[in-house]
Amino acid sequence: MKFQRVGVLGAGNIGIGVVTDLVLHGISAVVVDVSEDILKRAQTEVLNNVRVAPLLSKTLTRIAKEEALQRMVLTTDLEDVASCDFIIENVTEDWSVKKPLYAKVDRVVPPELCFGANTSCISITQIASATRRPANVVGIHLMNPVHLKPTVEVIRGFHTSDRAVDTLLRLLSLLHKEAIIVEDLPGFVSNRISHLFMNEAAFVLQDKVATAEQIDLIFKKCFGHKMGPLETADLIGLDTVMRSLDVLYESFQDPKYRCCPLLRKLVHAGHLGRKTNRGFHAYPQAQEMKREIDPANPTAELARAKAADCVLAEERK
Ligand SMILES: NC(=O)c1ccc[n+]([C@@H]2O[C@H](COP(=O)([O-])OP(=O)(O)OC[C@H]3O[C@@H](n4cnc5c(N)ncnc54)[C@H](O)[C@@H]3O)[C@@H](O)[C@H]2O)c1
Repeated sequence: MKFQRVGVLGAGNIGIGVVTDLVLHGISAVVVDVSEDILKRAQTEVLNNVRVAPLLSKTLTRIAKEEALQRMVLTTDLEDVASCDFIIENVTEDWSVKKPLYAKVDRVVPPELCFGANTSCISITQIASATRRPANVVGIHLMNPVHLKPTVEVIRGFHTSDRAVDTLLRLLSLLHKEAIIVEDLPGFVSNRISHLFMNEAAFVLQDKVATAEQIDLIFKKCFGHKMGPLETADLIGLDTVMRSLDVLYESFQDPKYRCCPLLRKLVHAGHLGRKTNRGFHAYPQAQEMKREIDPANPTAELARAKAADCVLAEERK
């Protein structure tokens, strides 16, 4: 099977990474979101990523801006994904958003088409139940930033067929990604565990046991982690972390997943992490520096990229 055009639903934090990865690997993306403004902003971010990513990863090749633009169709009309070869869904981590979208896209595309459901915590079996093709729905938990992460958690829902898994694995191999295939329960492996430690780190901060910097430093310097739990939450987006904890709490009916009030308060205050330049930590220079990148001077560009986004720089190690 050929992957000429992939439908990408949702052009937020993760959708932007998905589109970046596809266009860098020569695959066209039909990108759907709810407004032209969001799509325009996403396109700008993708073009920034396309420019910087080959400097940060040896496996990515530089492509021209025009080439990247040619490989992106931006649309608010879901019908435009009708002729795609695969769908990757990355909309808001909220069942009331995902459910009607799946019901709708199910009616738009041919019955044999497979969907990759990208979710932090919502059960793939539950997502598949919103469609008439549960065998064709497979979980694809992509890591952030998508284009720089070589490994993906792939989830087999109750009805997921071998064909759907194989189709996804073929797409992932074109993106030079390795898959770890697991069974389906909310949060899968990664987020069922990681959201507990991110949430507990927020409680430690709320209890004033340590500062955000100290909490993250302990994980980095004592445990050798690349990032601390609060930095990780800022990278994911605090709104997504909060919603994921709510899904885990609801799904397992277990109080250990109750969201820390400080985390919820930051979300209500609009401090969502890196995407708003402020979360548990402040990122005052990140956006400014990304805007200043000079494509004519790759060395300076790399230095600025490293300074602007330590997470991306970490990926080079
Ligand atoms: N952020 C991460 O690190 C991360 C990692 C892995 C998986 N995920 C999962 O990926 C999904 C997206 O996460 P995100 O961080 O990109 O969220 P986000 O809030 O940054 O982006 C979500 C996007 O979906 C769009 N959207 C909402 N309803 C839509 C609709 N009906 N049609 C089209 N677009 C719609 C929103 O406008 C927004 O642009 C979530 O399910 C999340 O759990 C996130």
